Amino acid sequence: MTRHEETPVMTTAQQPLPSGFGAASTARDVVEGVDLTGRVAVVTGGYSGIGLETSRVLRAAGARVVVPARDPERARAALKGLDGVEVERMDLIDPVSVDAFAARFLASGRPLHILVNSAGIMATPLTRDARGHEAQFATNHLGHFRLTARLWPALVAAHGARVVAVSSRGIRFSPVVFDDLHFERRPYEPFLAYGQSKTANALFAVELDRRGRAHGVRAFAVHPGTIVDTGLAKHVSAEALRAAGAVDDEGRVVIDPARQLKTVQQGAATGVWCATSPRLDGLGGVYCENCDISPLVAPETQADWYATAELPGVLPYAVDPEAAARLWAVSEELTA
Ligand SMILES: NC(=O)c1ccc[n+]([C@@H]2O[C@H](COP(=O)([O-])OP(=O)(O)OC[C@H]3O[C@@H](n4cnc5c(N)ncnc54)[C@H](OP(=O)(O)O)[C@@H]3O)[C@@H](O)[C@H]2O)c1
Repeated sequence: MTRHEETPVMTTAQQPLPSGFGAASTARDVVEGVDLTGRVAVVTGGYSGIGLETSRVLRAAGARVVVPARDPERARAALKGLDGVEVERMDLIDPVSVDAFAARFLASGRPLHILVNSAGIMATPLTRDARGHEAQFATNHLGHFRLTARLWPALVAAHGARVVAVSSRGIRFSPVVFDDLHFERRPYEPFLAYGQSKTANALFAVELDRRGRAHGVRAFAVHPGTIVDTGLAKHVSAEALRAAGAVDDEGRVVIDPARQLKTVQQGAATGVWCATSPRLDGLGGVYCENCDISPLVAPETQADWYATAELPGVLPYAVDPEAAARLWAVSEELTA
């Protein structure tokens, strides 16, 4: 990707539209009336949790869906019965595998209209990839950065592509700590590393959109809500989930979209809305939740925002254009 310094900064306001949808809307609700026939979508992590529902709904709306999976056997089993969904091998933490998947996709000659970067890991014990990069940053951010860069020609060829970076309210745990991205000089904290990687996802959408808009490529970051019954929380204790109010004393999952506690169908809605809504034509580079653009958390409301999951919003450091540009440069170096 080349940098387009001359592109005027025409940013989309980081404030609700309003969209007409809300926290309880499902992915099927937001795609109603949208015809994706002839469109091609790639959904990373499209065989589990939010990504699986995203694949199903994009396919139901007519898109051809490609699911790159680090475990193709399991992906095929999860997607069984869905015609028009292709499974390919790809492990985000392995650059060779990312490049190989992207090369196969480009060789197919197809444009790429929708890229949903949904794959992710959360709060893992300290692990590093072959280059020494911390695994959550390497998987959630660097893997998707590399994948998007490699798929760039297909995104441009779509003449109107959308990229969705699935971020998280986990941005509150950490900004991107440029001085020590890989926890080499500070103690490793699983949720700090997750938060850093999710802030990186949000910043990635900001800078990708700035660079992409002249080429018809728009990008959005998404907080899906809290969706307990996916594969993500395998490193989170039952006690922590109870303390967060996400499961009750009997261990049952609590669904309360007003508090961002959502079903998988509701959790996939904001990403699908960002990927497909005509309401977002000509917009991009913003962080979204509850099927709308999030408000910016004002400094004076930060304490309230931290205290309750009900208030939507994004912290300024997760949509800061300067940090986004800096992260882009660092990511280019790290992915060579
Ligand atoms: N669930 C929530 O409450 C929540 C809240 C905020 C944000 N999010 C975000 O939503 C996204 C989806 O999460 P989810 O809840 O749907 O979790 P999930 O069910 O665990 O899905 C994550 C997917 O990512 C895949 N993946 C992980 N590492 C990979 C790698 N190295 N290469 C390729 N694929 C890889 C997983 O594959 P395997 O099954 O093979 O591991 C799985 O298919 C994540 O980015 C997460 O951070 C989720």
